[in-house]
Amino acid sequence: MSVAATSPAVGSFCLPRFPRHTPRFRMAVRSSAISVGPLLTKLKHDCATPLPVLRHVADAMAADMRSGLEIDGGSDLKMILSYIDSLPTGNEKGLFYALDLGGTNFRVLRVHLGGKEDGVIATEFEQVSIPQDLMFGTSEELFDFIASGLGKFAEREGGKFSMQSGRKREIGFTFSFPVRQTSIASGILIKWTKGFAVSGTAGRDVVACLNEAMERQGLEMQVSALVNDAVGTLAGARYWDDDVMVAVILGTGTNACYIERMDAIPKLQSHVSSSGRTIINTEWGAFSKGLPLTVFDRDMDAATINPGEQIFEKTISGMYLGEIVRRVLLKMAEEGALFGDSSPEKLSTPFLLRTPDVCAMQQDDSDDLKVVGSILHDSASVESNVSARKIVVEVCDTIVKRGGRLAGAGIVGILQKMEEDSKGLVFGKRTVVAMDGGLYEHYPQYRRYLQDAVTELLGSELSKNVVIEHSKDGSGIGAALLAAANSMYGHDL
Ligand code: BGC
Repeated sequence: MSVAATSPAVGSFCLPRFPRHTPRFRMAVRSSAISVGPLLTKLKHDCATPLPVLRHVADAMAADMRSGLEIDGGSDLKMILSYIDSLPTGNEKGLFYALDLGGTNFRVLRVHLGGKEDGVIATEFEQVSIPQDLMFGTSEELFDFIASGLGKFAEREGGKFSMQSGRKREIGFTFSFPVRQTSIASGILIKWTKGFAVSGTAGRDVVACLNEAMERQGLEMQVSALVNDAVGTLAGARYWDDDVMVAVILGTGTNACYIERMDAIPKLQSHVSSSGRTIINTEWGAFSKGLPLTVFDRDMDAATINPGEQIFEKTISGMYLGEIVRRVLLKMAEEGALFGDSSPEKLSTPFLLRTPDVCAMQQDDSDDLKVVGSILHDSASVESNVSARKIVVEVCDTIVKRGGRLAGAGIVGILQKMEEDSKGLVFGKRTVVAMDGGLYEHYPQYRRYLQDAVTELLGSELSKNVVIEHSKDGSGIGAALLAAANSMYGHDL
């Protein structure tokens, strides 16, 4: 398998820095005595996720899933139909492309599939970062940029990859935002998330937006499958392992999808699947019930471009964890002189502290927490002593622990709902939850907290059957596989 990347594969763990104004006040000089104890105690109390809280979240998730399946708009969870009736079988053959748009980068990928015998023969990808202004520009600008990147990548096709003559290149388009799917290859953007505010796309078919941009570029390619990244991850992971039933993304944003029985979807009217099953994209980022939220979460939410929306996402995903920590530290600096006389002015800049910084600080095992000190210095221009750094690490841990444990409760909620409908078919056998996203991949403590919560909720016996497994970059291959499975040429080459 050959893999080429034009930029480091930082994936969704690379978070945007938001250009906002830094308030112009200067802090009064304070005593360097640290008096943040009560603030820290309150933070830990407000963020606590003991078993009853986890259970409540899992139950509420399962109940919201049901309401969302009853009727569109029935709950916070949109429970979107993917129009995927058959999962990859392994028979898929040929050259297929995938285009993945979901965060601050987009990825293009080509895959040579060799069917049952040869599997995935080769893959090649490129990652391109999306300029900040395009995240706030017009739909045409964004899609033109993407189509042009895709075109350049397609031009470099060669070596192990060759297209059968007379055929159009087919794409699996992973679009990782809430889309009301209207067929396997079309869907209307409901709204942007993760800090995107592109005008003119919401309410439109995103495949049409891409097709129009490809036409403007003179590119002859065709979208054969439009998929969410969670759905692509499930399809990709299922290609290797038949026990995969759920996929979860924990990166810049978050989402989960799972395999549902058609007869358990009351809102389904006409669409019938030959397999009797389909993938449901829960859009669980919008979940909001029973979460232990703090004043920092509420203030952050109010300052986002989508206040009141994506509350679960804002509590557990990579785009927001660093920002919550920053808000807590700012308060501790202003009210508890956390950094003594050192001015925390720069710490007032929204999204200054990124989740990878928080992660790096938590990995610091030096006696004097050197890494913590230099991250605080380099990003926020504050000087800190060892006691202050210890408190900073505790704050990071508190926010990350809450995020990881709530994500674990969400997963149990999904499994619980599936088990209730199919007695024994989930907990009575090996069931795999495929995980992807930079937060999950790169943050060991987050992963551990998530797993702990699943084990606490299910108990040690049942949780032995539930395998939570990283499926790296499964969504790209998954999307290409789904393009193959839905190829306009059929897939018996
Ligand atoms: C989007 C989902 C996506 C998730 C992970 C969320 O903000 O609404 O569609 O799957 O991020 O990328």
